[in-house]
Amino acid sequence: MAPFQKLFNLSMVLFGLVVGLIILIVAVAISSFSDYKLLQFTNQGELPSELEDQSTSLQALADPETLWKAPALEDLNLEPNADELQYGKDLIANTAEYLGPHGKVKSISNGMNCQNCHLQAGTLPFGNNFAAVASTYPKFRARSGTEEDIQKRINDCLERSLNGKPLDRNSKEMKAMVAYISWVGKEVPKGEIPKGTGIFEVPLLDRAADPIKGKVVYEAKCASCHQSDGKGQMKPEGKGYLYPPLWGEGSYNHGAGLYRLSRFAGYVKANMPLGATFENPQLTDEESWDVAAYVNSLDRPSKDLSRDWPDISKKPMDHPFGPFSDGFPEEQHKYGPFGPIKAAATNRN
Ligand code: HEC
Ligand code: HEC
Repeated sequence: MAPFQKLFNLSMVLFGLVVGLIILIVAVAISSFSDYKLLQFTNQGELPSELEDQSTSLQALADPETLWKAPALEDLNLEPNADELQYGKDLIANTAEYLGPHGKVKSISNGMNCQNCHLQAGTLPFGNNFAAVASTYPKFRARSGTEEDIQKRINDCLERSLNGKPLDRNSKEMKAMVAYISWVGKEVPKGEIPKGTGIFEVPLLDRAADPIKGKVVYEAKCASCHQSDGKGQMKPEGKGYLYPPLWGEGSYNHGAGLYRLSRFAGYVKANMPLGATFENPQLTDEESWDVAAYVNSLDRPSKDLSRDWPDISKKPMDHPFGPFSDGFPEEQHKYGPFGPIKAAATNRN
């Protein structure tokens, strides 16, 4: 054979090898892609039926005969102190305008509005409403170990949820908010907590909530408004938020109610993504817990909590800072599973 022919044969062999390799790579890629499709498909196939079960149980709660209904907001104007009530409502709906970083009364809070968390000025069933504030305060609260009135409770939210400073108890602003919140709950008999009050209780998972799964939920269902960096979105004129922040410097601090996983999961189950309602939720229970775990695993302002829970045995199952009296680790108090913690507490009492 001539040397030229030898070289030709060798390159044919090499060419064959390269083509074979390419075919192999493409085949592997196609097969894993179809696995991925299959995974997505089965997930989608499961979700609706699970949601259906959950929403029927939520709908049972929604019986209009027994669900709390707020007084109609137009009726504020019929009251002798209508101006004060209206001011209180405005402070709750547009807190940033009065008390935010560029507030026209004071600058003592982080730029969020009370209404970002207490939806429709605290009148929405399962929207973290004020139904039972007038009927149950003043009351003993284990977090402070003292009897708290409505003024103290409002300042708690200012210092924690709005990461700010307390208002003077005798200020016009404090008086107006107390008057408005009391008006919202005026028809509830003393001592009663009507159905639909506050935050929905999502059934516990039998596993720990998972921040990694939660990130997937967040990117798919929350980031379009609250943004991938969690900072939310300011209104065009730069005053207050169109979409409030969920973590970072502008968000609630470590001492806030939403930093407890059960509060966050219950709030979002019944209200988020925006447009969801407790009758028509858009997240499964698992998605609610997992997205809570993701958001609350990220950085946010801290607060000195050393004077909270003077009786450590009264800490709620999902208060994530030790010491604890029950022997469960901090990690489990933050992410669960909460069932065993709850059972141990029931046995103790
Ligand atoms: C970041 C969210 C958030 C913001 C903002 C916020 N709160 Fe709250 N607030 C909560 C949570 C969570 C609770 C506890 C609810 C629970 O545990 O059921 C709560 C509880 C309360 C309660 C007691 C309700 C009850 O039934 O015991 C009052 C009153 C209150 N907030 C007033 C305010 C006021 C007034 C503002 C604005 C100055 C405000 N909150 C801002 C999240 C928030
Ligand atoms: C279509 C836009 C939109 C989407 C999507 C959305 N939210 Fe919100 N979210 C809002 C708005 C607007 C508010 C404030 C509501 C108000 O002030 O009436 C809010 C408020 C909140 C709050 C309380 C306020 C705060 O900033 O702490 C939490 C918590 C929250 N959303 C979590 C979520 C989670 C988790 C998801 C995804 C499952 C989600 N949201 C999806 C628009 C959205």
